[in-house]
Order: sequence, then C-alpha cells, then structure tokens
Amino acid sequence: MGANDESWYDADIQRVIITEEQIREKTEELARKIAADYAHVPNVLLVCILKGAVMFMADFSRELGRQGRPVELEFIAISSYGQRATSSGVVRILKDLDRDIAGRHVIVVEDIVDSGLTLSWLLKYLESRTAASVEVVALLRKPDAIKVQVPVKYVGFDIPNEFVVGYGLDFAERYRELPYVGILKPSVYARA
Ligand code: IMP
Repeated sequence: MGANDESWYDADIQRVIITEEQIREKTEELARKIAADYAHVPNVLLVCILKGAVMFMADFSRELGRQGRPVELEFIAISSYGQRATSSGVVRILKDLDRDIAGRHVIVVEDIVDSGLTLSWLLKYLESRTAASVEVVALLRKPDAIKVQVPVKYVGFDIPNEFVVGYGLDFAERYRELPYVGILKPSVYARA
C-alpha cells in the first residue's frame, strides 16, 4: 500500500454517514453559537472525554479560538464496566481531571451520546466538583438509543441507531483516524 493510498478505508466502510466537509461546517456552526452564548464568560473550560472525542476536541477548540474565545483544555478518561455495546452506566475513572474545576464554566466535549449513561454519570461527577455551570456539546447523538435523559444543549447530528466509526470513534481501537464517520461492512465484524 502506497503512502497516499487511502483505499483501505473504502475497503472496510460500507457507507459514509457524515462527511469531512459536513463535520467542518457543523463544528464551525456549533463554535459560533457557543461563542455567542458564552460571550460573557472570560475563560471557558473544555473537558474532553478520551479517547473518542479527541478529534472533535481538537477541531472544536481551534474553531472557538478563531472566533476569538479563549479556552482551557482538560481531559478525562472513563470506561464503563462490561460490554460497551450494552453500556451499564457503571463508570470507572481511568484518568481524572488534572485541575480543580470549582467555580469554572465547563463545556463537556463528547463524541457521541448513545444510551446517555456515561454522560449522565459524568455530569453528576462534575457537579459534585462544584463547577459554576456544566453544558455538553456532542458531535453525534443516537436518539433511538437513549436510556436516560441527559441535558445535551448542543448537538451536531442525530444519526440512526447503528454502530459508527471514524473521527475518533473506534471498533476494537481501530478506525479512529478516519476523517469522516461511517458504518463498517459486516465482513469486518465477521473477521474480528
Ligand atoms: P453511552 O454511555 O451509551 O452514551 O456511550 C457513550 C460512549 O460509547 C461514547 O462516548 C463512545 O465512546 C461509545 N460509543 C457509543 N456508540 C458508539 C458507536 O456507534 N461507535 C463507536 N463508539 C460508540
């Protein structure tokens, strides 16, 4: 495979759900809205949930910067016990925040809201650390999969209740580097 050969993407992907261009436009739109809503806040704290939200965090934070909004970046890594596909809502912190968030205006940057269980737990955790405010921006949401209602103020795209990969989202740690969001071919699962 040559250095410029991207065909392995296409070989594994059945269908592109959200293109690179759509992600770029939506990220800009969300940043514009959030910059306006937070015009009175001197220094917003973005909290990225690793690893899935890393691409969105990188693009979204730079877009806020272009809009003239200074931000600080924090990262938290959590994992649910048991199978991800049937997220249990029981959450373990793998990497905690590095700094105190008391009194800060926090925006959680999330890749996808599926059952909502992870986010529901995280919001309670952040509130217990006495942030001044906590809102969520999620690039993707699967409305049909929601098990608990979580207040997600900013949503990029509502997508069908199918397993997606790319732009940070993985299947068995692969496909995070895809520049778009897509659905895998059934043959990929068969060989896993
Ligand atoms: P929830 O607790 O069910 O909302 O799960 C949220 C987390 O599960 C997300 O942050 C993702 O990391 C992961 N996840 C949910 N749906 C998908 C998917 O379709 N593809 C890849 N990862 C997913």
